[in-house]
Amino acid sequence: MNKQLRKAVIAGNWKMNKTPAEAKVLIEEIAPLVKDAACDVVVCVPYVDLCTALEATKGTNIGVGAENCHWEPSGAYTGEISAPMLKSMGVEYVIIGHSERRTYFGETDVTVNKRIRAALDNGLKVILCVGEYLEQREQGITAELVAMQVKIALGGVSAEELKNIIIAYEPVWAIGTGLTATADQAEEVCACIRATLASLYCQDCANAVTIQYGGSMNPKNAAELLSKENVDGGLIGGASLKAPDFAAIVEATKQ
Ligand code: PGA
Repeated sequence: MNKQLRKAVIAGNWKMNKTPAEAKVLIEEIAPLVKDAACDVVVCVPYVDLCTALEATKGTNIGVGAENCHWEPSGAYTGEISAPMLKSMGVEYVIIGHSERRTYFGETDVTVNKRIRAALDNGLKVILCVGEYLEQREQGITAELVAMQVKIALGGVSAEELKNIIIAYEPVWAIGTGLTATADQAEEVCACIRATLASLYCQDCANAVTIQYGGSMNPKNAAELLSKENVDGGLIGGASLKAPDFAAIVEATKQ
């Protein structure tokens, strides 16, 4: 029932794909296909594609996001991009804590929390990624682990600020592997995340938060995943690079 209270959000996570010229082509393919979407549609693109993406999405219903941001506003952090820089361009969303950042670039729950603080302070909407490795699932610690990731990430975030947070549950073993969590597995963890939010804030606050599933979501499995009470959208990697596939997932929110 509470599902109707929340806006479904389908976001593409392009990762390290597409040059600016390619980004323009892909967005121009996506835009007409999603113009009647029943959900919010977002593309999170590499930094170098942001300008092009902002230009190409003008007058469309597609929002633009970055894939990370630093926690300091400026300074001696060679190679980094800050939240004020993103905001000043007109970027609306930022992914924080993606498992690829955690696995390959030393991201921790504590740095995730710092980045979220910076993003919120600069008026960006956050897509916070959490999720377990296969070994952790096999150990039976998924619920505890994900709850801990959420608690640390949201330390110091107020109930008012929670309105600018989307949480993406992304089991690491399902990302880019073609192995999707079953709809029941996704629902179970998304429900745990919502229960964690209720314990940190209040039930109504938790009921208002959009929780996405991510990990090999595609046009074939999207409808079933999105039919679950606590799965309010998707963070889409591979399938977001193909306009018809991405649009089909957007369409699946209409069920
Ligand atoms: P995938 O990636 O859809 O390619 O599994 C999802 C993600 O990493 O956000």
